[in-house]
Amino acid sequence: MSAGSPNWLTRGLPHLWLPYSQMQTAAPPLPVVATQGTRIKLADGRELIDGIASWWTACHGYNHPHIREAVIRQLDAMPHIMLGGLVHEQAARLATRLTALMPRRLDRVFFSDSGSVSVEVAMKMAIQYRLNQGEARRGKFLAFRGAYHGDTFACMSVCDPEEGMHALFSGVLPRQIIAELPTDEARLGVFDRLLEQHAHELAGILVEPLVQGAGGMIFHAPEVLRHIRAGADRHGLLLIADEIFTGFGRTGTMFACEAAGIVPDIVTLSKALTGGTLGLGATIASSVVFDAFLSDRPEHALMHGPTFMANPLACAAANASLDLFETEPRLAQVAKISARLTSGLEPCRDIPGVRDVRVKGAIGVVELEKISDLNDLKRRLVEAGVWVRPFGRIVYLTPAFTIEDADLATLTSTIVAVLQDFSRNGAA
Ligand SMILES: Cc1ncc(COP(=O)(O)O)c(C=O)c1O
Repeated sequence: MSAGSPNWLTRGLPHLWLPYSQMQTAAPPLPVVATQGTRIKLADGRELIDGIASWWTACHGYNHPHIREAVIRQLDAMPHIMLGGLVHEQAARLATRLTALMPRRLDRVFFSDSGSVSVEVAMKMAIQYRLNQGEARRGKFLAFRGAYHGDTFACMSVCDPEEGMHALFSGVLPRQIIAELPTDEARLGVFDRLLEQHAHELAGILVEPLVQGAGGMIFHAPEVLRHIRAGADRHGLLLIADEIFTGFGRTGTMFACEAAGIVPDIVTLSKALTGGTLGLGATIASSVVFDAFLSDRPEHALMHGPTFMANPLACAAANASLDLFETEPRLAQVAKISARLTSGLEPCRDIPGVRDVRVKGAIGVVELEKISDLNDLKRRLVEAGVWVRPFGRIVYLTPAFTIEDADLATLTSTIVAVLQDFSRNGAA
């Protein structure tokens, strides 16, 4: 910590346990005092241009007045109310609006409070869908290498078992079927055979459509999703599309599945759902899934109910966020960002040690052979005035869709300059 660290940080840091950090060696976090638009203001007065939008959530930039006003109004009326036996307007309106954005048969929304929990709920729904029909043996899922679906236990089991963050837990996690994404003929054959072998024990297939995010920003073509949908159909399996990262325009269409023309049976949403303001998750099920829970037997109900599910403040933020998708040209902004990421990151191709440069929607990725000193790279980026969080071999940008051209140009040119310097000094 620097000499000028604020008092709250000096006193509080010894009591904080930070995410994904080896606390013995991690660099101290930067104290933030305010955000505005695509700027992060630090306690020492510095301002960083944000290239990450707080883990891909703040798609309209920080503190958008329309969302802020909606949350304040809701705070005055009712900050929270339990959803058990009670309901409120923000949740009902949000369910109506989310299902209107989805293909028609996806028409039932279960709210929770985070992305991981929305995936847990999707998995529980898929298993119970079978249990309610008297099929007790279908408790497994097929998921993909490179996947990331969250950090809770069921979610960890469907993440990449080796490259993911959860290899340490492999001995205690439920064993799932992990396949390569069927990106070519050979892999398609392997995928089809795996399905044939395991379909009888599967509750469903889980996929992050078009982009595997935290697993390495790995892109795949829409045909891949169509193959997966066709495989699921052949074996009567539920397809769960985890759109927690890709949903709300990030890949260029409102939802990534739209680009492939496929309709999943269950969709999970979070992150940009509230425009990055408050935690909220949604698991949206098709009427076929929902109908399997209708019964005169109480045990056929979905026994799940997070205390803060459908929190009214979060739902108000999400409704306001959807207003902005209706009234401001978000998808056009994504298309423009996409073009600028493509041209702005292009010079990285000539930097020694760069393996690939790729862009999809408002996601720009520079993949290196290796990043030998991740902390040093992070430090240099901050010193250059940008907030970019490289991980593994990846340096990436997922800016707010409202980012100004000049700020986006600074982000891309800073990445180029820092990587050039990093490579010259033999660090990449
Ligand atoms: C595709 C995907 N699924 C699930 C999650 C987990 O969401 P949360 O961190 O809100 O639990 C993430 C988070 O990065 C994600 O990218």
